Amino acid sequence: MRDEMFCDTDIEPTNILKYLYAKSQEDYTYYMSPAVPPVLRSDITGSLRDYLSNFINIPIADVGFLKTLPNSFYPIHKDCFRITALNMLMTQPSEECITSVYKIDKNPLSNKKIKVPYQKDKFVILDVMSFHSVENKSSTITRLLLSIGIKTHSFSQVLDIYRSGKLFNLNLQYEA
Ligand SMILES: [Fe+2]
Repeated sequence: MRDEMFCDTDIEPTNILKYLYAKSQEDYTYYMSPAVPPVLRSDITGSLRDYLSNFINIPIADVGFLKTLPNSFYPIHKDCFRITALNMLMTQPSEECITSVYKIDKNPLSNKKIKVPYQKDKFVILDVMSFHSVENKSSTITRLLLSIGIKTHSFSQVLDIYRSGKLFNLNLQYEA
């Protein structure tokens, strides 16, 4: 549900996009995350992390790339270590690779599964305290996501800051 569990924005980290793509190609930096089934994770450190922590005007807890391998299903869950995520898809959107949120109602007949409308290179604010899942039905494509974890602000708080125009520091320059 848009604005209840996620908010898709038109915001791109334009000044660092090419550096993010270059960094994301460094295969040796990926490790199996403890999630089950495992996803490949690469933590972002150094100047790119510094840039993102200034680009986003609330404290960020973790920053990394996540790879969802072909033919994998990350089942319905809530995140453990963060309450809100700022995610950016780095592969072309595909009907074979879907992130869903679940609106759970007292009446199970009213339960809803809703696709998160990721666009390449645009941030989505996601309530990771709501149930969500990721399925990659492609037999060939690995899905790549930039994921930034927030521990200090709930989804509705982050959304309020975004709506007030203060979440992203759009004029921030990057010096590589
Ligand atoms: Fe998650």
